Amino acid sequence: MEPEKGDPNVKVGIREVADGFRAVGAMPGDTVIYHGSLSSMGQVEGGPTAVIDGALAAVDPGGTVAMPTLWFNGKEPLQKPEDFDVKTSPSYVGALSEGFRQDPRSVRSHHFSHAISAIGARATELTAGHDRCKPLHTPWSEMAFSDDSPWGRLYEWNSLYCFIGVTMRVCTMKHYCEARIVAECLTQAAPERRDALSARLVHYGAPGLWPFYNSEATGELFAQRGLVKTGRIGSATIRGIRTRTLVEETFALLRNAPQDWLPKPFLDWRAECLGA
Ligand SMILES: CC(C)(COP(=O)(O)OP(=O)(O)OC[C@H]1O[C@@H](n2cnc3c(N)ncnc32)[C@H](O)[C@@H]1OP(=O)(O)O)[C@@H](O)C(=O)NCCC(=O)NCCS
Repeated sequence: MEPEKGDPNVKVGIREVADGFRAVGAMPGDTVIYHGSLSSMGQVEGGPTAVIDGALAAVDPGGTVAMPTLWFNGKEPLQKPEDFDVKTSPSYVGALSEGFRQDPRSVRSHHFSHAISAIGARATELTAGHDRCKPLHTPWSEMAFSDDSPWGRLYEWNSLYCFIGVTMRVCTMKHYCEARIVAECLTQAAPERRDALSARLVHYGAPGLWPFYNSEATGELFAQRGLVKTGRIGSATIRGIRTRTLVEETFALLRNAPQDWLPKPFLDWRAECLGA
């Protein structure tokens, strides 16, 4: 997405980054994940490493910081999952993310499309076993957003989810919510119909149904409700929301007012699942 326009006259260092993360709720011992735009902050002295160090300072002592390091760019031709190399496949979601992946302190989860990299006390625990998760259907394999995946752990740990100079449009956690909504619908379907209903969902490389929703709009709603904290890092806005709040408030919207948020073909499929 188009980030906020940075002011190159504004200088940013580790201290400004740490203050920004603290302003949106980062605490000692916390686990924090962030998406972001490097240029939106101004001139960052030390580049992506200074942003990592600032985030680490905000959760020190005992904290963990993470970024999505997705080898998936959503563009044709599709990547072949078997070509993913956890050590060398680049992150396609910006300079902060690629810098994070290349940082010698970081460990990366093993998933071809939705890897997370992490640094700090719980980095290994957060990123472990992404290639051995319990199956949960998503458009990008059965393991990307399972409850025992890094994304499931971020929810379980009530981590702080941050956005620097970008909106919640880029919120990867949205797919965890979508996958859970799909699973919930299938659970309510008659057992003998589940395979046929599942077959109509999008599968990697094959079109189908999926409850893609507008996470920028849900993010704006959460901000209006006072659920999102905001601060500044140089010329950029930083936003932060706890993952339990993010996921549970999203579920409430998608369950209670699905017609306002979900595509019509998915609503029809959902009605079939529920036997309506
Ligand atoms: C796409 C996106 C990364 C673009 O942001 P961006 O700031 O233009 O690009 P990057 O963060 O990659 O940083 C590179 C830019 O920083 C500039 N830069 C380099 N060093 C810098 C420094 N030390 N300080 C500030 N800016 C610097 C570069 O010149 C480059 O700008 P340019 O493209 O105008 O030349 C951002 O809008 C975004 O969407 N980020 C989130 C992505 C994501 O997490 N997606 C998840 C799945 S949807």
